[in-house]
Amino acid sequence: MKKIVELISISFPGRDLNLGPVYLKNYALKNKHVANNYTINISQFDKDTSASELLDCLLSRNARIYGFSTYVWNYDLVIDVSRMLKKERPEATIILGGPEAAGLAEKLLLQHPFLDYIFVGESEISFSAFLESTELQEIPGLAYRKNDSVMINPECFVEDLNSLVLPYECEEYRTYIDNAPAPVRSAIETSRGCPFRCRYCTWGGTKMRYFSLEKLKPAFEYLFNHPNVKTVYITDSNPFLRRRRTIELLEMLIQLNVHRKSITFELAPEYMTDESILALIPKLCDDEFALGVQSTSPTVLALMDRRFNSERYLKNIDLMKSKNPDIRLWFSLIIGLPGDSYSQFLNSLDFVINMQPEGVYVHELLCLPGSEFYKNPEKYGIEYMDVPPHKVLKNKTFPEEQYNKAKLLSYFVYLLHRVESLRKNFYNMGNGKDSSLRLIDHYERFVSFLDGKLDALAGKEISEVSSWIFEQMANDFLAKEENITKLESLYDSFLNEGV
Ligand SMILES: C[S@@+](CC[C@H](N)C(=O)[O-])C[C@H]1O[C@@H](n2cnc3c(N)ncnc32)[C@H](O)[C@@H]1O
Ligand code: SF4
Repeated sequence: MKKIVELISISFPGRDLNLGPVYLKNYALKNKHVANNYTINISQFDKDTSASELLDCLLSRNARIYGFSTYVWNYDLVIDVSRMLKKERPEATIILGGPEAAGLAEKLLLQHPFLDYIFVGESEISFSAFLESTELQEIPGLAYRKNDSVMINPECFVEDLNSLVLPYECEEYRTYIDNAPAPVRSAIETSRGCPFRCRYCTWGGTKMRYFSLEKLKPAFEYLFNHPNVKTVYITDSNPFLRRRRTIELLEMLIQLNVHRKSITFELAPEYMTDESILALIPKLCDDEFALGVQSTSPTVLALMDRRFNSERYLKNIDLMKSKNPDIRLWFSLIIGLPGDSYSQFLNSLDFVINMQPEGVYVHELLCLPGSEFYKNPEKYGIEYMDVPPHKVLKNKTFPEEQYNKAKLLSYFVYLLHRVESLRKNFYNMGNGKDSSLRLIDHYERFVSFLDGKLDALAGKEISEVSSWIFEQMANDFLAKEENITKLESLYDSFLNEGV
């Protein structure tokens, strides 16, 4: 009888089946020994599922091996369920993979006896080797206990991505999409790796590898044409690094996306030197484009080891706008970075709002396990939460009070930009006569003016609100028409009082 392996993903509602377990299953089943001896199932649960409900479900699957994908957002639940699962089924093997567990492999195996193994890094080869071999030291990327210590074997990357079976070719993936209760956001990789090494990130310093466009074409066709796929998210670190390939990829996407579905991806425009690429991007779809900036301060950029060329950035944005004046731009900044301060953060915010985007995402810095900031916090003058989501608790250049002030301003930039009339008014103010004031100064003054006059945080203090719920908070606030009217009339009073 074949042994059952259950690969478990805990995800957000409205998403497709997590690609990680699908790739693992597809790759492992190419191996005859694995295919003859194992049945591999994938199950996906909503992140709000209770631990006891998850446990009951997993016990009913009767698996020999349970493998969980871990991320910042599901780590606590995975740990709770693994503990309960081992108690009920001591003979079952429990394995964790995914970025959160990988960065904490040694600590987790030392702290939690109910965990058997952890996979570190890309795990297709590791997982297949694990099912085939009993020699632990031969399994790449495997973390395991030996006597009283933890051994971690070197990682192994899939060199030829075309050797992978793509998710849409997996029956389980297709069935999941077919049966989705509402259209979902589907993810797709066109490459793996990242040549850069931003110190807040766990992705960098890995070799770039690419899927061929011939292999990707039917995958995109499937996603663009499936009625249950609402949007397509390209998960690559930097999808447009290679000039020739980028042009071919963009042309292919424009041609295949006949229903003009929204395509999202992370875009760092300063790495793009080619005008034809910048001209093609706005043609992809009508949706918003998210562009990373993080910070414009040379000190902060040096400490996070990230390149930034403001001139090239502005030039490229202008070019994209000239090709499509209605292009919907969003920029991403990180707040709390080592070396940053209130005034430097204001400069970064000023830089992005001067490009007159539709909006700005401000992310609070997370010191993700495995990242350089996580490994050496003292070196960068920061302290962070030891438990997920690893938010920064202290930054010696960015005192808490100023951090909260900057976060409040960021929330209001988000909120004000959601009201088109206000966004346009601010942009007009920036074009005004008072050249002693920067655009961000107008926003800052208005936010001070609002103090005590408006409850846009549902009675909460800014310190209690995480940046990733800004969108939800703003949605809730703006859902009430009277709140928009009040905000607009406060803006008029602000102007009339000549503040
Ligand atoms: C998944 S990242 C990829 C970014 C892209 N490769 C780039 O370099 O711009 C997308 C966005 O998430 C945010 N982000 C990434 N890592 C973060 C971290 N450790 N803490 C806070 N925000 C982070 C950044 O604002 C970034 O632009
Ligand atoms: S932030 Fe982007 S560019 Fe920097 S290391 Fe991560 S994926 Fe690469």
